[in-house]
Amino acid sequence: MHAFEPDRTLAKPELYRELLTAADALTADEPDPVANMANLAAVIWQFVPDLNWAGFYRLLAGELVLGPFCGKPACIRIPLGQGVCGTAAAERATQLVPDVQAFPGHIACDAASRSELVVPVLRDGGSVIAVIDLDSPFPNRFDADDRAGMEAVAELAASRI
Ligand code: SME
Repeated sequence: MHAFEPDRTLAKPELYRELLTAADALTADEPDPVANMANLAAVIWQFVPDLNWAGFYRLLAGELVLGPFCGKPACIRIPLGQGVCGTAAAERATQLVPDVQAFPGHIACDAASRSELVVPVLRDGGSVIAVIDLDSPFPNRFDADDRAGMEAVAELAASRI
């Protein structure tokens, strides 16, 4: 059993440091990428408040394919360059979207989503192997601390998935 209890009184940078420690502990000894993506999605969901979706899309044969996640059932395949996830993968760059309704081509998998943070997972700092997508039902939910925290999680994920 893995018992990780996020401390809700922590400021965001500390919360993300705790999340990273938990994510590292959960994946350090496990070589299976699906198991590790599943536990990473679960621990992100547990630590990061105010989300309605958290999980992975893997880049397979030139398109994004749904991976392990927490939340409602989601779109299965997303072409590169489409939506927030496809843009993050195509540009190899984090997408922080304060208002998804203002993002051209946003793909509404869950009508509750209002803001979104998508970070690419880069193998050896180079090619995209996946993206981590966080959705919130609140507009403007994500800031620079969330971005930095999730980019650190994505860097860890790169060697574990
Ligand atoms: N909204 C995303 C699609 C994935 S879901 O939100 C889980 C997008 O525009 O890429």
